[in-house]
Amino acid sequence: MAGGEEVRIGVYVCHCGLNIGGVFDCGEVAKFAEKLPGVVLSKDHSYVCSDPGQELIKKDIREHKLNRIVVAACSPRMHEPTFRKVVQEAGLNPYVFEMANIREMCSWVHSDRPEGALEKAKDTIKMSVARARLLEPQPEIRVPVIDKALVIGGGIAGITAALSLADMGFKVYLVERELSIGGHMAQLDKTFPTMDCSICILAPKMVEVSRHPNIELLTNSEVIGVKGYIGNFEVKVKKNPRYVTDGCNGCGACVDVCPVYVPNEFDCRLGPRKAIYVLFPQVVPCLYTIDKDHCIECGLCVEECERQGLYAINLEQESEEITLEVGTIIVALGYDPYDPSKNHDYGYGLYKNVITSLEFERMVTAAGPTRSEIIRRSDHKHPKRVGFITCVGSRDERTNPYCCRVGCTNTLKQAFLIKEHYPETEVYIFYVDVRTESEEFYQRLREMGVNFIRGKPSEVVEDPETKNLRVRVEHTTLGRMIEVEVDMLILTIGVEPPKGLAELRTMLHIPAGPDGFLLASHPKLKPVETYIDGIYICGAAQAPKDIHTTVGQARGAAAVAAGPMALKEVIIESLTSRVLKEICTGCAICVKYCPFGAIKVKELRKPAEVLEAACKGCGTCSAECPVNAISMRHFNDEQILAQVRAAPETNPESKILAFLCNWCAYAGADLAGVSRITYPASGRVIRVMCTGRVDTDFILEAFKMGANQVLVAGCHPGDCHYVSGNLNAEKRIEKFRKKLERLGIDPDRLRLEWVSAGEGNKFAQIMREMTEKIPKYREEALKFANR
Ligand code: FES
Repeated sequence: MAGGEEVRIGVYVCHCGLNIGGVFDCGEVAKFAEKLPGVVLSKDHSYVCSDPGQELIKKDIREHKLNRIVVAACSPRMHEPTFRKVVQEAGLNPYVFEMANIREMCSWVHSDRPEGALEKAKDTIKMSVARARLLEPQPEIRVPVIDKALVIGGGIAGITAALSLADMGFKVYLVERELSIGGHMAQLDKTFPTMDCSICILAPKMVEVSRHPNIELLTNSEVIGVKGYIGNFEVKVKKNPRYVTDGCNGCGACVDVCPVYVPNEFDCRLGPRKAIYVLFPQVVPCLYTIDKDHCIECGLCVEECERQGLYAINLEQESEEITLEVGTIIVALGYDPYDPSKNHDYGYGLYKNVITSLEFERMVTAAGPTRSEIIRRSDHKHPKRVGFITCVGSRDERTNPYCCRVGCTNTLKQAFLIKEHYPETEVYIFYVDVRTESEEFYQRLREMGVNFIRGKPSEVVEDPETKNLRVRVEHTTLGRMIEVEVDMLILTIGVEPPKGLAELRTMLHIPAGPDGFLLASHPKLKPVETYIDGIYICGAAQAPKDIHTTVGQARGAAAVAAGPMALKEVIIESLTSRVLKEICTGCAICVKYCPFGAIKVKELRKPAEVLEAACKGCGTCSAECPVNAISMRHFNDEQILAQVRAAPETNPESKILAFLCNWCAYAGADLAGVSRITYPASGRVIRVMCTGRVDTDFILEAFKMGANQVLVAGCHPGDCHYVSGNLNAEKRIEKFRKKLERLGIDPDRLRLEWVSAGEGNKFAQIMREMTEKIPKYREEALKFANR
C-alpha cells in the first residue's frame, strides 16, 4: 500500500433478491469474506445497488475508515460504474473499488449445483479481495468530445437519429451506401396497422434531412476505416462516383434519351430502369447516377445534359476518400430481406407465380412497375385465389431461427390490400402461428373472409399448363393433410443482417450475436449502447423490428449519443501503461507490439516513453516486455498474480483458471449467465482488458499453484478491440507451449479460445469440455504443485 497506509477493506455481498440469494447462502459468503486478510467488515444485503445499499457503503467508508471496497454482486460490466461513483461520493478514488461477479458467473450458471456455486462465489470474492489489497488510486483522465456525430445508414432509423441530433444543434454526417436515403421503407406501399402511405410519411423526413443546415448527407458512400475512441473518432469515408455532378437539377432529360434498359432493383427487378437513373421518384438527394456496369457510353445523355445547359455529366468522375472527425457514432444499417431463391423455397425462382412479400409490395404500390395492378407474372391476369405462406426464412433452423417480428402483421396488411383492391379474391394464409400486436386487424380480416390455415406447407407444385400452384399442407387444426390450389403465392420473407454489417462491426469492434445482428451493451438497460463507448445502435441492424419501434429506438440512440457531446468532455478509464524507467533497457520490443504507436524509444537503450493519450490500455506491451518494465494502471502484474494465487489455494487440482478479455469472452460468459445456461462450477475467472495482457508468467504461476487447466479466451481474430492483442497472445501462447513441455506440463492443459460477446453457449461448452478433462490432468497438477 502506497505510503504504508493500512489496508481496510469493506466487502458487501448482494443477494440480488433471489437471483443470488436463492442459490446459496449470502450470509455464509459474507462471513467467509470477513476472515480474509485486510477485510475490516463484511456484510450481506438484499440489493447493494439500491439506494439503501449505496448509502450503507458510504456510511461504512466514513465510520470504519475503509479505503478499499469489494462488492460481490452482478457483473462489473453492469454496475462497476455505479459503485465507482458511490466510493467517489464517499471521498475515495474510484479505482480502489473492485467487483466480484457472483451472479452471471456463479448463481445464474450454476443454479443446478448450488454447492459448487457457493464454493466458486467464495473463491471469486477471495480473488477480488486479494486484488483489492493491491489497488492503487488512479488519476482521472478527461478527454474533450468533438460535438459532431456520424450516423451510418440512411433508412428510417438513420434519418430519425440524424434529424434528432441535428435538431439538438449538433452537426451530423449521414452516410448512406445507396444512391438515396429512405431504405426499405421507401419500397413499401402502406405501413401497418394504420395503412398510411409509406412514402407519404417518409418523403417529408427525407427532404427535411436534405434541407437541415446541421446535416451533411453523403450518399453512395461507405465507411472504410474507423480509428479513435469516444469523443475523438476519425472516420474514413469513400464517396463512390455517380458520374453526375451536383450540377444536376433532376430534370430527367438524360433518362429520356438513354437507350439502355436494365431490370430495376428497387422494384425487385419486376420492371425496367435506364442506365442513367434515380432509384425512385422521391430520391434524396435528387441526383441522377450512371450505372457504369450497363452504360454503353453512347454519349446521348451527355449531349442532352449539355443541351439543357447543365453540363452535369462527368464520365471520368472518380471515387473520393474523405476523413471525418466525430465525437459519437450511431450505426443504423437496417436489414436485408431474406432471399428465397437460394433454396428455391416453395418453388420461388422456379415458378413465376410464386413471389415474395417485398415483390408484392412493389407490385401493389401506385408508383410500382404494375402501377398497383395485382397480376400474375405468368400471364399478367388478376389472380382469383391468392395464398400467403408466412415465416419463409424465419423461425427455421435451416435458414434463420429467429422471428422476423414483422412478417405476420405484414401478411395481414397485404391480405387486406388484396381484399381492398379486389374484394372477390379468395385469400388463404398458411401460418405457423399469428404473432401480431394488431388483434383488431386480424379479426377484421377474418370477417372479410380471409381463410387462415394453421400449418406449414410441405410442398408447392405448379400445374405446367395453368401455372396455378397446389399447396400441400398439414392443417393442424383439422389434423389432416389438405391441398389448396391458388393462382398466386406470396412468401412472407424474413429479414437478415444487412450486407456490409459484418465488415462495419469489425471496423468498429462492436460484437454481433449468433444471428449476426449487433449486440446491445445490455439487452434491457442499455438497448442502444454498444460495448464501445461513444458508439450506439438503432433499428433493424440490432434486431428485426417494425417502424414504430425503430423510430423510438433511433430517437433513444440520438439522445444517448448527444450526452457526451453536450457535456463536451468525458472521463475515460485510467488503464494506460507506465514505463518503469529504472528497469527499462530500451530494447524497443514494446514499440513493435503497440498497435496504437503509443510507445516511443527516442534513443536505443534509453527508456521507452508512453504517450498516454494514445495508449488504449490493452496491456500487450506489458505482457511482451522481457524485463517486466511496463506496468498497467489498474491491471498491474502484482494485482493479477494476486488473483492467480488466490483462486487455487484450496483444491487447485480441480480448478480451471480462465483469463477472459473484457470485451468478448467475459461478455460471452456474462451472456451465458443472463441466458441461464448452466455448466460445471470448476472455472475461476480473471478479467483482463485484452488477451494481449495475459503474460505467460501468469499462466505458469497458475500451474505452479496446481491449477488443473488454464483457459485464455478473447475476441475472434479481427474483433480484438485493440487491433492485434489477441493475435499477439496467440503467438506468445503457442511459443509458451514448448516451454511448458520442457517443464513437464502437458501443453494441452492450456487452452486458447475465441469467444464473442454473443457466444454464451460456446463459453459454457468450453467449460464443460475442460471440466471433463479434469480427472485426466489431476495427478500431474498435484505433482507439479507440490514440487
Ligand atoms: Fe478481446 Fe483483445 S479485446 S482479445
